[in-house]
Amino acid sequence: MAEQSARRQSKEQPGAEVSEAQIAVHWQEEKYYSPPKEFIAQANLTDKNVFKRMSLDKFPGYFKEFGELLDWDKKWDKIFDGSKPPFWRWFVGGRLNASSNCIDRHLAMHKNKTAIHFVPEPENEPIQHLTYQELYVRVNEFAALLRDSCGLKAGDRVTLHMPMVAELPIAMLACARLGVVHSQVFSGFSGKACADRASDSESHVLITMDAYHRGGKLLDHKEKADTAVAEAAKDGHKIDKVLVWQRYPGRYSSPAKLVDGRDFVVNELLPKYRGKRVEPAQMAADAPLFLMYTSGTTGRPKGCQHSIGGYLAYVAWTSKYIQDIHPEDVYWCMADIGWITGHSYIVYGPLALAASSVIYEGLPTYPDAGRPWRIAQELDVNIFHTSPTAIRALRKEGADEPAKYGYRFKHMTTVGEPIEPEVWKWYHAVVGKGRAAIVDTWWQTETGGFLCSTVPGIHKMKPGSAGPGVPGIHPAIYDDEGKELKAGSGKAGNICIRNPWPGVMQTIWKNPDRFVQQYYARYCKDRKSKDWRDWPYMAGDGAVQAKDGYYRILGRIDDVINVAGHRLGTKEIESAALLVPEVVEAAVVPVADQIKGKVPDLYVALKPGMKPSDDVAKKVSAAVVTEIGAIARPRQVVIVPDMPKTRSGKIMRRVLAAISNGQDPGDVSTLANPEVVDAIRGIVK
Ligand code: PRX
Repeated sequence: MAEQSARRQSKEQPGAEVSEAQIAVHWQEEKYYSPPKEFIAQANLTDKNVFKRMSLDKFPGYFKEFGELLDWDKKWDKIFDGSKPPFWRWFVGGRLNASSNCIDRHLAMHKNKTAIHFVPEPENEPIQHLTYQELYVRVNEFAALLRDSCGLKAGDRVTLHMPMVAELPIAMLACARLGVVHSQVFSGFSGKACADRASDSESHVLITMDAYHRGGKLLDHKEKADTAVAEAAKDGHKIDKVLVWQRYPGRYSSPAKLVDGRDFVVNELLPKYRGKRVEPAQMAADAPLFLMYTSGTTGRPKGCQHSIGGYLAYVAWTSKYIQDIHPEDVYWCMADIGWITGHSYIVYGPLALAASSVIYEGLPTYPDAGRPWRIAQELDVNIFHTSPTAIRALRKEGADEPAKYGYRFKHMTTVGEPIEPEVWKWYHAVVGKGRAAIVDTWWQTETGGFLCSTVPGIHKMKPGSAGPGVPGIHPAIYDDEGKELKAGSGKAGNICIRNPWPGVMQTIWKNPDRFVQQYYARYCKDRKSKDWRDWPYMAGDGAVQAKDGYYRILGRIDDVINVAGHRLGTKEIESAALLVPEVVEAAVVPVADQIKGKVPDLYVALKPGMKPSDDVAKKVSAAVVTEIGAIARPRQVVIVPDMPKTRSGKIMRRVLAAISNGQDPGDVSTLANPEVVDAIRGIVK
């Protein structure tokens, strides 16, 4: 793709061969912005030598600094074991506990400091401030409950399907305390999606909440647990216990009935564990901490397995030096803990550093686009972290709102999708009031933490560009033939990381072959090699590197659609559509959207004799919501007379993508059925 796509990017609108990377936003080189002097004066990292210290020839020794940010029950014997590529092991021989690193070790100094500010969506509900001591007590009690009521022990997996409430990190940290592997499923995902993940991870306990607020409504969430148990059973997997937290302790807020012997109200069980303490399990550094499912090219979502020692060291280091978190900071990442951003940069990173982390239950624009700024003002938030989608929405609905509030950010992060320079500039000038350093952090569920970003106290910022690799990370862009594309070549290619790093996933849960295949096979020259240099990690994103070494991420090169910064597999959406009996073929394509970056358009062809109707389209849309969740709801379902196909019968998604994006589908004369293109154009809105 490299040369061709670069040509397309520089000259014309991306056209015929539309892939995610190619229809990603394209823009010109931008001018630099300097981080404010006051920021640099207090920054955790201003020494440019860090890049020399962490040069590739010093790998892996420099990752010692990362490990040293943690407290170890037993120090590691070896920083890195690369003897079974690409199944790297970090801090080998070391033992530690993630919950005691995020809580217990702070008690001496920060016992009465707020660990978590929980902000309910209803503005008239008081904000809850949990101190480190309170977090300690609640995590211990819940850990005791998990151990004694559920019989959970180190190595077991537990699925969490929790909304954005303080009980979510409490549950995660309680699992971590026992060495239990948590797998949190985004609360917006359907019961079926939860079931798929619970059965893949073989979780016999599901932890959920009865209800939560979103967009002004108290949503019933317990019903999804009922669906999850039923759907998992169809898959031959039994969920024995459902633990239900009450959004309002003492009051059950769901119309869904509790099932005797299966469902237990956490708040009713907890008094039995009052005052209980659980010794943190001294876990091996390379034991798994959690699974996080994410969409890939084929099949069901895959469980990315993250380790305790490597992962925690990596998120602690990047939180300290890229997000510049100091213990006295009030830090707010507006992502959802159901995604990797929330795991790494709401829970584990900030709490490992004893910061105060804000958890907001609801929609950023509810009840109006001034809400985030009121929260920031109220809590004195000084570090803010969000996605381009949220920034676009806040700008559209309330461009003048930030100026009305007296908060002051020293640092802001953007993550999840490419940010248009124009949106970046608004973020900088209006949200940051021209006084905040910004980092555009590029990374993935698989990578545990940031890969590319400027170091805020060292580098200048360039709107729309993530920046160079963070210290210790050595990216490279390769073309399809494996040739490296140098900085300033103007060519786009596949961005890879040359070296292993402690935050990278250990494997795909129960699928090591897919792990090797998907991330390492493409550019590994010798599958027998024991040398890590032969195993670059392929991220699956297209990117270009400017002369100054900054990377600009263009978007996915595979069948993944990034909707509002969240990954959805085209195959998952298409499989959902195929569950509707009338549908015979389905193809999903990404469409550029002003707010969400990308949204899916779903094309379906019906079985012979079936008539297109609004009803069928609605059924297809509903199937997607049931199977995956509202986040995957198609912008439109287009019922086509036939799919555009190659002579060998392959659906030409690029033609559909061009039509959906109002672009010229290019030369279609080689299709088996070129006449269908005009017919489809006539139907698409
Ligand atoms: O395409 C890249 C995009 O999001 C993908 C990873 O998605 P996920 O695993 O859900 O993790 C999101 C949060 C880390 C990447 O492959 N992406 C992520 N950050 C950026 C980005 N694209 C451009 N710029 C970014 N800063």
